[in-house]
Amino acid sequence: MLLALQSLTKTFVGMKALDEVDFELASGEVHALLGENGAGKSTLIKCLTGVYRRDAGSILLDGRDISPDSTSRAQALGIGTVYQEVNLLPNLTVAQNLTFGHEPRRFGIISPRAQRRRAAQMLEGYGLDIDLDRDLGSYSVAVQQLVAIARAVELSGRVLILDEPTASLDDREVQMLFAVVRRLRDRGLGIIFVSHFLDQVYALCDRITVLRNGCRIVTERSDSLDRVRLIEHMLGRELAAQEESEKRHRRSAPLAGEPLLSFAGVGRRGFVEPFDLEVQRGEVIGMSGLLGSGRTETAELMFGIRRMHSGTVSDAEGDLRLNNPRDAIAAGFGFAPEDRKTDGIIADLSIRDNIVLAMQARRGWLRRVPRAEQKRLAADYIERLDIRTSGPEKAVGELSGGNQQKVVLARWLAMNPRFLVLDEPTRGIDVGAHAEILQLVRELTARGMAVLVISSELDELIAVSDRVIVLRDRRQVARLSGSDITLENVVHAIAASDEHREVSA
Ligand SMILES: Nc1ncnc2c1ncn2[C@@H]1O[C@H](COP(=O)(O)OP(=O)(O)OP(=O)(O)O)[C@@H](O)[C@H]1O
Ligand SMILES: [Mg+2]
Repeated sequence: MLLALQSLTKTFVGMKALDEVDFELASGEVHALLGENGAGKSTLIKCLTGVYRRDAGSILLDGRDISPDSTSRAQALGIGTVYQEVNLLPNLTVAQNLTFGHEPRRFGIISPRAQRRRAAQMLEGYGLDIDLDRDLGSYSVAVQQLVAIARAVELSGRVLILDEPTASLDDREVQMLFAVVRRLRDRGLGIIFVSHFLDQVYALCDRITVLRNGCRIVTERSDSLDRVRLIEHMLGRELAAQEESEKRHRRSAPLAGEPLLSFAGVGRRGFVEPFDLEVQRGEVIGMSGLLGSGRTETAELMFGIRRMHSGTVSDAEGDLRLNNPRDAIAAGFGFAPEDRKTDGIIADLSIRDNIVLAMQARRGWLRRVPRAEQKRLAADYIERLDIRTSGPEKAVGELSGGNQQKVVLARWLAMNPRFLVLDEPTRGIDVGAHAEILQLVRELTARGMAVLVISSELDELIAVSDRVIVLRDRRQVARLSGSDITLENVVHAIAASDEHREVSA
């Protein structure tokens, strides 16, 4: 066995994040590590890579007991990790990023030519056609991630750990990543893959291990573990009830349109082509398109993060000024951005503080939200979004990644805006909480709020939306409503070639 974790245990003040977990990884295998938000996946990986010190248990690499006390030590032993947020240096070139810390030298001096040659060798077989002399930061996240993998593989070479690597990649990029992972597997690496995308898990992984509440529940070959049982293992309950709640958020009849907002000719040169959009009270508008199609850019324009070069936004009272996010918030807009981990969270403040934050900013700091009200809000959202925590006063930085995202979501929901934009609201969030979040969106719209949901998960988008807008190349290429909202139509619009470009209202 390449890697064996035995009875791994890790406790954080008063809570067991890992409870005598066993885990094995063979060479030439891709092994998925799955579980709900807070199940202990990242903690297991951090114990393995020396970020955390384990309380008990042992780690055997090639049968030898190891205890890495830092990521660089783990790397030297053969264990490399790539996180969702790439930890490379965007201002260095691709070649420099690949080789820093182990630059090829001639007479003690770094030789750029040798450096480039080494970098080219490292990228061999990755199918990447990139300029080694360009800054890494000028490439997409997908390319940066592949570069990070190439570096990790070069430095470690035995075990590769991917913790939610695909969360911000589009389909094509995911395929690119998978091709690389398969090649590395065939070279004999052992690969640990953490993801909430079950399709990807089944497409890529040989075995699956499920954690729940810090315990290992099952390890099985992925071809013998069917999806329903897998989800049951993750949730720890039978699935019948779950499916019921998934159906609930499917809307019966669209609301009669009562106009809320009107975007007319809104655009920004080189960013988003001018578009019109009438938003009605109580509707859910789904926005779809590949990464880079202009989805997030459109949301940023609507929320005043980027200035519009053209167009007007108005409501029943008249034109709105949206020069910056503060204007947008004052106008009753909310925006939960895609990059919640970096944008949204103040890690050392409590869950309660984080939820109340935006609301407090809107009221002004002199009019404090009363303590009792704060507590009520926090308790309410912890329950409704199933935020896994020992209580509302826990620092957000101590929550698992998915639970941190739920806190940011709660913050915007608590503001009760009239128009709320959710960019990838369920990304990084486990299957159990998925349905609850969509259900919550429906409840909000029943009270008159309009919601714009941006999502790459088409099934989810189709289930929750009254209308779907498809973007391509920074412009709207299709609008679907009613019974036209089908997977086939959406996929067709996303993929259609330019000759067929047209906007059907
Ligand atoms: N630094 C920390 N201090 C205190 N508690 C922590 C810390 N890191 C993690 N925890 C707790 O340990 C548990 C497991 O968290 P972990 O991050 O491993 O979950 P995860 O399975 O990776 O979830 P996700 O899918 O949301 O990323 C959670 O209850 C979390 O609150
Ligand atoms: Mg995690």
